Amino acid sequence: MLQIWVVLSVYLSISALDNGLMRTPPMGWMSWERFRCNIDCENDSKNCISENIFRDMADRLAEDGWKEMGYDHVMIDDCWSSMLRDKVGRLQPDLQRFPGGIAKLARYLHDRGLKLGIYGDLGTHTCEGYPGTTLDKIDTDAQTFASWGVDFLKLDCGFLLMRTMFFCHTGYPLMSKALNATGRTIGYSCSWPAYRGGLPPSECFIMLPICNLWHITDWFFDNQEMLQPEAGPGRWNDPDMLIIGNFGLSVDQSRSQMALWAIMAAPLIMSNNLRTLSRGQGHPAKQRSTRTLWASREDACYRSHIEVYWRPLSQSASALVFLSRRQDMPYRYHTSLAKLNYTAGSYEGCSSFLVPFLVLSNHIVVHDDSISSSA
Ligand SMILES: *[C@@H]1O[C@H](CO)[C@@H](O)[C@H](O)[C@H]1NC(C)=O
Ligand SMILES: *[C@@H]1O[C@H](CO)[C@@H](O)[C@H](O)[C@H]1NC(C)=O
Ligand SMILES: *[C@@H]1O[C@H](CO)[C@@H](O)[C@H](O)[C@H]1NC(C)=O
Repeated sequence: MLQIWVVLSVYLSISALDNGLMRTPPMGWMSWERFRCNIDCENDSKNCISENIFRDMADRLAEDGWKEMGYDHVMIDDCWSSMLRDKVGRLQPDLQRFPGGIAKLARYLHDRGLKLGIYGDLGTHTCEGYPGTTLDKIDTDAQTFASWGVDFLKLDCGFLLMRTMFFCHTGYPLMSKALNATGRTIGYSCSWPAYRGGLPPSECFIMLPICNLWHITDWFFDNQEMLQPEAGPGRWNDPDMLIIGNFGLSVDQSRSQMALWAIMAAPLIMSNNLRTLSRGQGHPAKQRSTRTLWASREDACYRSHIEVYWRPLSQSASALVFLSRRQDMPYRYHTSLAKLNYTAGSYEGCSSFLVPFLVLSNHIVVHDDSISSSA
């Protein structure tokens, strides 16, 4: 299951998808990693997949300062629908958990300046066994989503028995056309490459899957030379959801995910419980760093178990990420502008996470006794 889901997506295609959306990587919130397929509203009404949770998260995005940072999508993942299509073959939400319907939920979000994402799955079933989108239902489902006022579709191809090349290959481009034909601009996130070994197919770019955060990250960085050129306004590689603020990550690990996702220009889709997250500006997901910038090249170099990531930004600026994979003690890392291929000169530096660093006569020193290993 995890393998399928951790994937996620992406969006777009250069030649096929020209809908004007996502000139910068999309940002928002998605239910999956935090709330999964919890449909037990009887015993766990606060945390079950229902219209309430999406309204609550919309309120948090709108009222706690997230929207101003760019987090403007609320995305429903699997388990939202009824087990049965309606009499004319359309998908319909589970009426107990979404009594107001998806269109009403979309209006609630739109009234707050937010956008609604929904989930579909090519094949007979979704990963969790809800009705899937077979090839003959692609047009119907696109039209249904558009009629509800949906703004974004995450389309999986993950139901194991149906995950055939034929199905995914045929279905993803057809859905792209079907969405376009609705006349409504709908962002399109394809998990396609996840089922093709990871690299972007010629018509749709996004990314890849494999198991867990660091694996994904490793895979991404090991393949940056191939992946990075495919990304740009309207089409982004997606290493999947930000799990910062979720269970199990330390503050340093959260900062690490944020820094890496930012320097990759990855979509920033949080999956956490916004009700209990710090509302302050200090939260790692609120650090504005390389957000809206897109660059033509990224390099990683490995030494001392300190990895250095570099990205050119606009106006002659550049971003650097120093990632420690050391397991021992706080470590003083020393490098030079020359080693990082900067020309000699004077540079103004600023740190996203208040980690002390110095740029002194062409040398860079990063040192923070308070940073744990793997951060
Ligand atoms: C449909 O595709 C055409 C051609 O690529 C594009 O100009 C148009 O904006 C698209 N419309 C929507 C609603 O995505
Ligand atoms: C609520 O919990 C009870 C007791 O564990 C269980 O029998 C029931 O099936 C649960 N309700 C739902 C909707 O899962
Ligand atoms: C610096 O440039 C050299 C030569 O082009 C290259 O081999 C090296 O990987 C670059 N180092 C970094 C950190 O980009």
